[in-house]
Amino acid sequence: MSWFFRSLDSSIGKKILMALTGLFLILFLMIHLAGNLALFKNDGGLAFNNYSSTLRSLPVIPILEIGLGLGFLLHIIQGVRLWWLNRSARSEKYKINTPSKGSSIFSRTMVYTGSITFIFLVIHLRSYWYTVITEGHEVDLFNLVKTSFQDPVYSGFYIVAMALLGFHLNHGFQSAFQTFGWNHVKYFPFIQKAGTLYAILMAVGFASMPVYFLLGGQ
Ligand code: HEM
Repeated sequence: MSWFFRSLDSSIGKKILMALTGLFLILFLMIHLAGNLALFKNDGGLAFNNYSSTLRSLPVIPILEIGLGLGFLLHIIQGVRLWWLNRSARSEKYKINTPSKGSSIFSRTMVYTGSITFIFLVIHLRSYWYTVITEGHEVDLFNLVKTSFQDPVYSGFYIVAMALLGFHLNHGFQSAFQTFGWNHVKYFPFIQKAGTLYAILMAVGFASMPVYFLLGGQ
């Protein structure tokens, strides 16, 4: 088994793990957003609460949650390690730290946009789990979402975090495809555009929830 961990720790292994966990998280975000669209039904939370209690009653969910937690953990640890290794290599070689030619603001800020996403995740999960644990299976999650988003400070932070997640995804999407060698001159511009579209859809889709409740959505 040690050969497996050694290959994962090689520089290409690290990149592949990063791309795999990134694509897994990309898929998760799409499913998460699709489910959350039930918030906009304007039915006092009926559809959303039904959806979330059905999800929580599925036996497969705890297993998926562990997989998701591991995916996040590996992605974060590996992302910070890669950033640290690149940073050390750059400062040793050149002594001055200038951004490499052709790199975009999105690629240079991956560790920062990722870190804000991480802080957001901790706050998001704390309020979700705290409420589910304290109120039990019959928890009114719609009410939790609605009252949280009626607070302009929480909503403001949420919207900024979603914009930064969009920055992360804009580069992350194309970078993951590039890691797998999908960088053909003919098709790569299409992947880049698809990545930007995906990033905008996720950022606007998630940010539209606080905006909806701030504007009086019921
Ligand atoms: C839902 C959340 C997230 C998604 C969908 C996501 C997605 C991605 C994707 C697709 C990549 C490109 C992988 C590649 O280059 O092959 C990436 C890179 C990266 N992510 Fe995330 N990410 C998320 C959260 C985070 C978090 C919480 C951190 C915490 C620090 C983070 C840190 C990084 C870093 C540093 C890189 C660049 C790694 C490199 O140098 O290539 N990400 N992310």
